[in-house]
Amino acid sequence: MTSPNDAFKKITVVGLGYIGLPTAATLATRGVEVFGVDINDEVVSCINEGKAHFSEPDLDILLEAAVSTGKLRAYCEPKPADAFIIAVPTPLREDRSADLSHVETATRSISQLLKPGNLIVIESTCPVGTTEKVCGWIAEERPDLEVPREPKAGDIQIAYCPERILPGNMVFELVHNDRIIGGVSPKCSARAEDLYRLFLRGEVLRTSSAVAELVKLAENAYRDVNIGFANELSNVCDKLGVDVWETIELANRHPRVNILRPGPGVGGHCIAVDPWFLISMASEVTPLMRAARTVNDEKPRIVVDAVRRNIDRFKRPTVACLGLAYKPDVDDLRESPALQIAETLAFDDIDLVIVEPHLRVLPETLAQRNNVSKDDFNAALRKSDIVVVLTAHSAFRAASREQLLRRVVIDTVGLWQS
Ligand SMILES: NC(=O)c1ccc[n+]([C@@H]2O[C@H](COP(=O)([O-])OP(=O)(O)OC[C@H]3O[C@@H](n4cnc5c(N)ncnc54)[C@H](O)[C@@H]3O)[C@@H](O)[C@H]2O)c1
Repeated sequence: MTSPNDAFKKITVVGLGYIGLPTAATLATRGVEVFGVDINDEVVSCINEGKAHFSEPDLDILLEAAVSTGKLRAYCEPKPADAFIIAVPTPLREDRSADLSHVETATRSISQLLKPGNLIVIESTCPVGTTEKVCGWIAEERPDLEVPREPKAGDIQIAYCPERILPGNMVFELVHNDRIIGGVSPKCSARAEDLYRLFLRGEVLRTSSAVAELVKLAENAYRDVNIGFANELSNVCDKLGVDVWETIELANRHPRVNILRPGPGVGGHCIAVDPWFLISMASEVTPLMRAARTVNDEKPRIVVDAVRRNIDRFKRPTVACLGLAYKPDVDDLRESPALQIAETLAFDDIDLVIVEPHLRVLPETLAQRNNVSKDDFNAALRKSDIVVVLTAHSAFRAASREQLLRRVVIDTVGLWQS
C-alpha cells in the first residue's frame, strides 16, 4: 500500500499569501518537497530568506524550519509536481461579482506542466461553479488530457477545498480544523483527501465541488448576517442611550440566544467580500444577506459621526485611534473598517494619533497627512482628548482607569467593558 507521502513527493503551491504560505510551510515540514510560487518577486525573496511577509503567530518558526531544511523554496514560475494547490486572491469586481482572473491565470500557468495522475486543488474562495470552470480552462489548454467529469475519473484530478483558518491562529487551525473536500469525481475527492492527510488532524468531509464552494460562502455570509445583527443592535442601543454590552451579556443568558459582539464594521478579505459572491449569483433571493452587508458597511460612518459629535466639544482635540487592523492581534488591513475610520478622521481639524503595535509604519494614506502621527499606547493615551478603540488588540487591554480619566472614550469593540 502506498502512503500519501509516496503519492505526493513534490507539491507546488501557487499564491504565497495568508493561505498559501502557511499551507506550503506546513507541507514542507511533513517531508514533502514544496515549490512555492508567487508573481510578487519581493514575496519570493522574503520567503527564501526564511521570513514571512506578514505577521502571523508561529509562522516564522514553521517557515524557518521549512526553508532551512531545503524542503520549501519559492519561485516566480510554477514547477512540475505531483499536486498543485491554488491559493490566489479572488477580489470583488466593480459590480461586486467575483473576479476570477487570478484563479484563471494561475490555472493556465500550471496547465503545461500537468502530467496524468496530477492533482489540482483550488483553495481560493470562489463562486459556485468555479471548479467546473477550472476543468474547462485545463481542457482548453491541454486537449491531450482528459479532465474529470462526475463520475468519470479523468487523467488528472481536480477538487475544491475551502480554507477556514483564523488569522492569528492559522498554524494550529490549518492542522486541526475539519476540512471540506469537494472533488469533481469521487476519485478526485479521494486523492485530495490523501493530500490533506499529509498534515491534517481534523476530520475530512467529502462532498461535491459545488457544495464545497457553497459551504465556504454560506459560512461567511452567516457570520456577516450575525455580525450585522449585533451592529444594528448597537445602533439601537446608541439611539436609546442603553448599554449595548450589558444588553448583549444579559440576552445571551437565554439558553438559545448567542448575539455576537458589535464592532466598527466588518473587515478582512473574507466576511466583507464573500457574501457578495452569493448575492451576485442569486440577487433576487438574498435580501437578508444584502441588508447585512449594508448594515456592516454603514457602521464605520456611524462611528465617525459619533467621534465628530465629540470633536465639536473641543477646539482642536487630539484623537487617539487604537488599532487599524480589521481584527485583534494581526497586521491585516484589508477592508479594515478601523483604517477607513482613521482615514476619514484624518481630514478633520484634529491631531490624530494612531496606535497600531502590529505595524512598523503607517499606511501611505495616513503617513502623508501632517496632522497624523503614530505613537505607542501609553504616549497616545497621555496626549489624547478622545480615545477611539477600533481593534481589540490584546496590547490595549492593560489601560488603567487613571489613563482614561478625563478623556472621552468611544470603545467600538467593548474592549474595556468586560
Ligand atoms: N486570508 C484569509 O483569512 C482567508 C481565509 C480563507 C480563504 N481565503 C481565500 O484564499 C484566497 C487567497 O487569499 P489570501 O488571503 O492568501 O490572499 P493574499 O493576497 O494574501 O495572497 C495571494 C498571493 O497570490 C499571489 N498571486 C496572485 N496571482 C498569482 C498567480 N497567478 N500566480 C502566483 N501567485 C499569484 C499574490 O501575489 C499574493 O501574494 C482568496 O480567495 C481568499 O478569499 C482567505
